[in-house]
Amino acid sequence: MNIVVCENLRKVYEQEKVKVEALKGLDLDVEKGEFTAIAGPSGSGKTTLLNLIGGLDAATSGELRVDGQALAELNQTELAEMRLRKVGFIFQSYNLIPVLSALENVEFVMLLQGIPAKERRERARSILKEVGLDGMFHRRPNELSGGQQQRVAVARAIVSDPAIVLADEPTANLDSETGGSLLDMMQKLNCDKKATFIFSTHDNMVMEYARRLVVIRDGRVVEDKRRQ
Ligand SMILES: Nc1ncnc2c1ncn2[C@@H]1O[C@H](COP(=O)(O)OP(=O)(O)O)[C@@H](O)[C@H]1O
Ligand SMILES: [Mg+2]
Repeated sequence: MNIVVCENLRKVYEQEKVKVEALKGLDLDVEKGEFTAIAGPSGSGKTTLLNLIGGLDAATSGELRVDGQALAELNQTELAEMRLRKVGFIFQSYNLIPVLSALENVEFVMLLQGIPAKERRERARSILKEVGLDGMFHRRPNELSGGQQQRVAVARAIVSDPAIVLADEPTANLDSETGGSLLDMMQKLNCDKKATFIFSTHDNMVMEYARRLVVIRDGRVVEDKRRQ
């Protein structure tokens, strides 16, 4: 089953009469459970594509369906609900809440989802252990290294078993060894939890990890390779 379907997807940004066509009729299907890298040079449209798939921004035209639902048919409230229930986000700059501990950062999403306190705490502890942060539950982001902060962000993204995890250049601010171990961990979560991962990168080392490599250039898919 295709969890993401993009057909002839276009996105035009308009700023004070200047138009930028970031996606120019992009086609892409992603199957459930895939571990896919979106590669391409800076400005090729990677962030735009992930933002559209995650419902953070609306396409200008074309079809976009996530888990069978056409996003263009949803209003703002329904989109917010979709993001909360179906999508986990991981950003380049981690985006953790600075005043909350690692545990509280992971619990926060579940709080919004209305999960009871006891279950929140148990699930947050368990996922933080899985990502290798046992013993660091009570540290705030500024008391963690970049790699550890990104592990908290991955834990937060995955804790509620989202249908899809979107990661925009998740290793861009990490050294290659830390980035590699983050990807090992994401790969393991992909296998164990059957979550679909789509991550963008322009780093060759990171591309090596992907079982599927989609290259975009100038707002279109120019290459799509699957590895066994
Ligand atoms: N909010 C925006 N307003 C105007 N232009 C934008 C905006 N976001 C991105 N762009 C432009 O769209 C194109 C694709 O950008 P982006 O999706 O960020 O690419 P990438 O993530 O691959 O670097 C670029 O030309 C960029 O300058
Ligand atoms: Mg980008």
